[in-house]
Amino acid sequence: SSGNAEAGALVFRKCMACHKVGSDAKNGVGPVLNGVVGRVAGAFPDYSYSPANKNSGLTWDEATLTAYLRAPRKLVPGTKMTFAGLNKDQEIADVIAYLKQFNTQ
Ligand code: HEM
Repeated sequence: SSGNAEAGALVFRKCMACHKVGSDAKNGVGPVLNGVVGRVAGAFPDYSYSPANKNSGLTWDEATLTAYLRAPRKLVPGTKMTFAGLNKDQEIADVIAYLKQFNTQ
């Protein structure tokens, strides 16, 4: 996809109440998202995931993240991520491009 990481940093403002990224990131309402692109769902250390997330069998690649960020409860019924989702494909691609920048920390 053609995501723009700089634009994605602005989209990520919608996530920041619950998620942190970067070297000082800590779990909060939601898990730290460093390294999430390519990771098995429910795997960030010391975060208490819902059974729905933990047992989803998903790996967070571009396709699954795109579906999840559009409609979290549709892809993972019972998720405790109370976020309605993003409406625009470009915003979704951009925030994924942003998240990829935190795959090496
Ligand atoms: C889980 C991304 C917004 C709360 C997740 C996961 C991803 C994600 C990828 C799965 C992580 C994993 O399996 O390790 C995002 C993005 C957001 C966003 C990119 C913004 C576009 C929010 C917001 C909240 C939130 C606003 C709080 C209101 C949570 C919670 C979980 C979660 C509680 C754990 C879900 C569970 O265990 O069922 N998020 N999120 N997220 N997120 Fe978000």
